[in-house]
Amino acid sequence: MSVHILVIDDDAVACEFLEEALSRQGYEVQTRTSARKALEEDLSRYDMLLSDIRMPDMDGLQFLRAVHESWPQMPVIMMTAFGSLETTMEALRLGAWDYISKPFSPDAIRAMVRKVLEVRSLHQLRMLGEPKAETESHFIGSSATMVNFYKQLARVADASASILIEGESGTGKELTARSLHQFSSRRDRPFIPVHCGAIPDTLLESELFGYERGAFTGADHSHPGLLESAKEGTIFLDEITEMSPALQGKLLRFMQNGEIRRLGGHDVRIASVRVVAAGNRDIDEEVRSGRFRADLLYRFVVRLHIPPLRKHKEDIPQLVKSLLNKIGHPTVRVSDEAMEWFMAYSWPGNVRELENVLQQTLLLSPFAVILPENLPLRFRPERVDEPSLPSVTPLESAERDQILQTLRTTSWNQSRTATLLGIDRKTLRSKIQRYGLQRESGS
Ligand SMILES: Nc1ncnc2c1ncn2[C@@H]1O[C@H](COP(=O)(O)OP(=O)(O)OP(=O)(O)O)[C@@H](O)[C@H]1O
Ligand SMILES: [Mg+2]
Repeated sequence: MSVHILVIDDDAVACEFLEEALSRQGYEVQTRTSARKALEEDLSRYDMLLSDIRMPDMDGLQFLRAVHESWPQMPVIMMTAFGSLETTMEALRLGAWDYISKPFSPDAIRAMVRKVLEVRSLHQLRMLGEPKAETESHFIGSSATMVNFYKQLARVADASASILIEGESGTGKELTARSLHQFSSRRDRPFIPVHCGAIPDTLLESELFGYERGAFTGADHSHPGLLESAKEGTIFLDEITEMSPALQGKLLRFMQNGEIRRLGGHDVRIASVRVVAAGNRDIDEEVRSGRFRADLLYRFVVRLHIPPLRKHKEDIPQLVKSLLNKIGHPTVRVSDEAMEWFMAYSWPGNVRELENVLQQTLLLSPFAVILPENLPLRFRPERVDEPSLPSVTPLESAERDQILQTLRTTSWNQSRTATLLGIDRKTLRSKIQRYGLQRESGS
């Protein structure tokens, strides 16, 4: 299926240059020297637009805005010889997919077009899943930071390379793993998530590799492991840093040659499973301290880093809207002042924390508008800090405050606290220890 690209530039020579550069790549290219004229057409028949910014009859940014009003999903690359931080920001804020400054080489624009097409197919696949969208999560956020992340994700999704996803708690690591699977040719094969931190090590080993009858007491039948069951699919090893060194070694051998040997068995089976793993600890630090094998880390060809929410706060309003919808309160609104508090907050628990705060707030004050006074104390800007322990960063101190407050709210019920914060109990316990949190007498 051919790709149709429309180029809009008042400079006919520039049009010709782009037509030449892109049609060589096999794209069907049309050119227009007037943005106003271009807007009179049905642009939905193009897969992508390339537009200049400075044009006499209509400014490229105005054009971009108009295009997105009628065709919100249309990828547009903006080009300019007068690049500035302001126009770049404005173009990205208005939803441009990418931005290139003139002059550029044919190779540079071809690479950019290719990338945009990859990301676009990601979006389209997302659209295909739209009817299920209420229950099925997908990425929200159109900030440059997130678009940049989508680009990286799109680029590696269809490869077979094993991928390590890194990101703070609640940033969307599992969502990323599912997206990688969904946007690969393996999408019709199984996606098998394994929460390494939640399963005792010996059990994890037999779960992953399977066992033969009699391999251990109670093994009264043979059992294929998850790696075998995943077949040509994807296995998602969540919290991979929690794996014991012995099991890490076994996983390493599997990743080297795809061989699986069931516990107590002699046969060697081969599986071509794609391995995707995630960790919310600093993996390099784990390697330095000897808890994680360096040779296993090097088996992960690509490391994808998800930005924390505080690095793309501009996405918060959009996230709030979609999360309210997701949790079944599509008509609830967040007041301007409450939104300001959201924007000022550091979000140590990231998107999951945002989801939990909305849920929790609506449970306690089920009103049509969320006001600042409905929000948990930690959002209060003039909050007085707890006396802090030495050597914690501001972020850690925010996290510590949040954990302490939630513990107080639940009267130190660790399991409820973990649920409210969206972390598992093991993580909570280690954080309580790390921050030296103690129950005050009388609380
Ligand atoms: N960018 C995003 N847009 C929409 N929803 C998101 C986004 N990021 C995360 N979420 C949602 O936030 C919740 C947490 O995401 P997920 O479980 O993927 O995070 P995680 O990084 O695996 O967290 P943890 O470190 O606690 O395991 C999920 O409900 C997910 O759908
Ligand atoms: Mg997770």
